[in-house]
Amino acid sequence: MSAKNKKKSTPPAAAPAIAANIESHMVENRVFKPAKEFAKKAHVSSMDEYRSLWKKSVRNPEKFWGGLARELDWRKKWKQVLEWKAPFAKWFIGGKLNVAENCLDRHLHGPKKNKAAIIWEGEPGESRTLTYAQLHREVCRFANVLKRNKVKKGDRVLIYMPMIPEAAIAMLACARIGAIHSVVFGGFSAESIKDRANDSGATCIVTADGGYRRGAIVPLKHNVDAALKDGSTKVKHVIVFRRAHNEVHIEEGRDVWWHRELEYVSAVCPAVEMDSEDPLFILYTSGSTGKPKGILHTTAGYLLGAYVTTKYVFDLRPDDIYWCTADVGWITGHSYLVYGPLANGATSIMYEGAPNWPESDRFWKIIADHGVTILYTAPTAIRAFIKWGDQWPARHDLTSLRLLGTVGEPINPEAWMWYHQKIGGGRCPIVDTWWQTETGAIMITPLPGATPTKPGTATLPFFGIDAAIVDDAGNEVGPNEGGKLVVRKPWPSMLRAVWGDKARYKEAYWSEFKKQGFYFTGDGARRDKDGYFWIVGRIDDVLNVAGHRLGTAEIESALVSHESVAEAAVVGCPDEIKGQGVAAFVTLKTGQTPTDKLKEELRKHVANAIGPIAKPDQIRFADALPKTRSGKIMRRLLKQIASGQTVTGDTTTLEDFSILARLQSTEE
Ligand code: WTA
Repeated sequence: MSAKNKKKSTPPAAAPAIAANIESHMVENRVFKPAKEFAKKAHVSSMDEYRSLWKKSVRNPEKFWGGLARELDWRKKWKQVLEWKAPFAKWFIGGKLNVAENCLDRHLHGPKKNKAAIIWEGEPGESRTLTYAQLHREVCRFANVLKRNKVKKGDRVLIYMPMIPEAAIAMLACARIGAIHSVVFGGFSAESIKDRANDSGATCIVTADGGYRRGAIVPLKHNVDAALKDGSTKVKHVIVFRRAHNEVHIEEGRDVWWHRELEYVSAVCPAVEMDSEDPLFILYTSGSTGKPKGILHTTAGYLLGAYVTTKYVFDLRPDDIYWCTADVGWITGHSYLVYGPLANGATSIMYEGAPNWPESDRFWKIIADHGVTILYTAPTAIRAFIKWGDQWPARHDLTSLRLLGTVGEPINPEAWMWYHQKIGGGRCPIVDTWWQTETGAIMITPLPGATPTKPGTATLPFFGIDAAIVDDAGNEVGPNEGGKLVVRKPWPSMLRAVWGDKARYKEAYWSEFKKQGFYFTGDGARRDKDGYFWIVGRIDDVLNVAGHRLGTAEIESALVSHESVAEAAVVGCPDEIKGQGVAAFVTLKTGQTPTDKLKEELRKHVANAIGPIAKPDQIRFADALPKTRSGKIMRRLLKQIASGQTVTGDTTTLEDFSILARLQSTEE
């Protein structure tokens, strides 16, 4: 790669502001072309090839996806590629297949049988390798354990696990027998488990006694007990993996140990024949209002999206050691730690713990020890690495790396440059990949052998993806004009539903451009003169904290559920490492005194209700919140106050001007 144009860009803010007016003032002139050596071996090796393939793919998506779907293993071929009755899509109608079979069984008949599927490292330092044959065996055994615990096709199973191979084994075992998994991130609280168990109607939870994080044990089983305490869920079976050997309560008749159950089952478990459109999993994600949405993904389309994007975006080669650092609790962990790499027969690294344990070079040590060739991580992690200092990566040999990726939020160009130079040694292409829980797979991304990259942009749409930026009327805007990011045509790995809530599915994604039938992403963006997409950020009330989506409404209701709180408004504020932080404006009930102790208590309260990632960074007590005459909280003003800016713009609808003066004088 070479910097074609070394002219410096105007330095961007630590993270792009979530602009209410979808404007971006960032100018970036550096361009990095793929090196010839890289391009030569790549699946797609020139822009001409990309452009002609892309054009063909969006002109006739059915032909394009139908062609690629042949690379999967089908029990029965589909009759029709797509049925699109906006906003409901069905892909590969009549097709029958099994996801676990595609990720495991089909690799057992050739040289991949004894290839490493998962190389795992625990935080304390132990390591395990599972070959495809071994992983297959473990999945079959655990699928039989699920059956023993009365799990049938279509049942929902919650998976609340540390980052250990058993998390992937549990997911694949569900897929094997047709159960629908819903992975709950191990950092979420008991309250979050309960909500998800109730919403999904899960009958079984797979968990562990604990998991290691920064030297401490995360009490997973204890949280499950707390979630089930009030008896409101339908959970009848809890399967507990022994990981941390901490003491846990085992409830007679409900809880069983994973290792004990294995004694009763065989290693033979035929995969259930699933319909293309049978549900594969539900993953909860935050929206702008109320409780998290259960995003539903189905069998064939999702698998195809994960498989194809992993192959092309990471330009997989047979001997790659691929590492996606995301937790299985997020969509990135689903598509690019488990399903995508395994469907490709790749070797995937999995690491249990924190990047700075026992020291700040853990990631670099893992890369050197295992000869990692592809690293896929998040901008928030990169910013933390920069802060910790260059001496940490410098201690290790990182020359095995050949490709880098980022996901989760816009990457600020300076972080991109650091990643490129300090980690990639100036030689590795960077794929900045834009996508969402709802899209299932990567949507906008460079292809590393073809696309010239510019720091800070996810560049161009993947094959078959008709992404565009439109104004409120749905018309495409011109170069460098801000607008709303939409997808104009359905794609195989798109969400099919919000679990149990058809109205919300329509409202959240398809109401904005109902007439046109466009999918609305909730993101604001612009395209530059080369057509590259620059994502500005969310335009709804969703925060992106360290690459994780948090609904402001969720945090507000957590705050209001505290006995001292009368009203709360949550907005984002700039944060050097996390991109966005959480700022809460809180009014107290009469008679309550605003103290630092109460601030701390409220922070803990939010952590208990949602999880530590949602803890407010700032809490400001106010005697009232700025509202319009019709009673709407004026978030724009609060955002400005939380970012330490002077309040500007129109305040004529503000009900009481004195509130503003008082709010600005409240100190964090
Ligand atoms: C943001 C994560 C800029 C975006 C896979 C999106 C990004 C939300 C990028 C989805 C990127 C993700 N550049 N912004 N490369 N990747 N986002 O559902 O706002 O956790 O809508 O999926 O993250 O977050 P989610």
